[in-house]
Amino acid sequence: MLICPSMLSANPTKLGEELVALEKAGADAIHWDIMDGVFVDAITFGSHVIAGHRPLTRLQFDVHLMMENPDKHLVSFYRAGADIIIVHTEACAHLHQTLSQIKSLGIKSGLALNPATSIHAIEYCIDVMDMVLVMGVNPGSSGQNFIESQLQKISNLRKILPPTIEVCVDGGIIPRTAFQCCQHGANSLVSGTYIFRNPDYAAAIQELKGN
Ligand code: DX5
Ligand code: ZN
Repeated sequence: MLICPSMLSANPTKLGEELVALEKAGADAIHWDIMDGVFVDAITFGSHVIAGHRPLTRLQFDVHLMMENPDKHLVSFYRAGADIIIVHTEACAHLHQTLSQIKSLGIKSGLALNPATSIHAIEYCIDVMDMVLVMGVNPGSSGQNFIESQLQKISNLRKILPPTIEVCVDGGIIPRTAFQCCQHGANSLVSGTYIFRNPDYAAAIQELKGN
């Protein structure tokens, strides 16, 4: 099980130190929650923040765009150092085109499904994506409880997706829900609150990995 800490819950006065600590603690990738204040109420990091922190770690940067019409921002987050750009099905007028544009940049593409969104939304995009991000919470904030109905979505996705496509679960991840998501076929998990509330990041990551 791969663990991707969400920087939304990191100490905003020392993001660089947090990145270095997470890499030492065994994080498998870094999850950047980008919020535009329109698709979700909060506003978080711009591409310049990603660019500024890119040289500090070799870990994969997963950039989760919680924004309306992400097409106009794809190149700036690619140039900032994103290794995978994840867009929401609910925010894209031309989803297959948006995912194709991400792939044309030479990086990976991801597709996020809000809790209410059916897996049917991805059926005709399988050829242009590398990851499905199953939202375990409604997007826009950290510290929420996991929505249990998403477990069946994980299983149903795993049944229709080829093994090359990663199923990642984002939000509400604590040891109990991490175990449940793993049992249902998830490959990776995004966690913010549980990791950053623990003074020992390595121990928190290991607990989520199930060791
Ligand atoms: C929510 C974000 C999640 C969230 C995870 O909109 O996409 O990545 O920050 O945080 P926790 O682990 O606190 O649910
Ligand atoms: Zn996220």
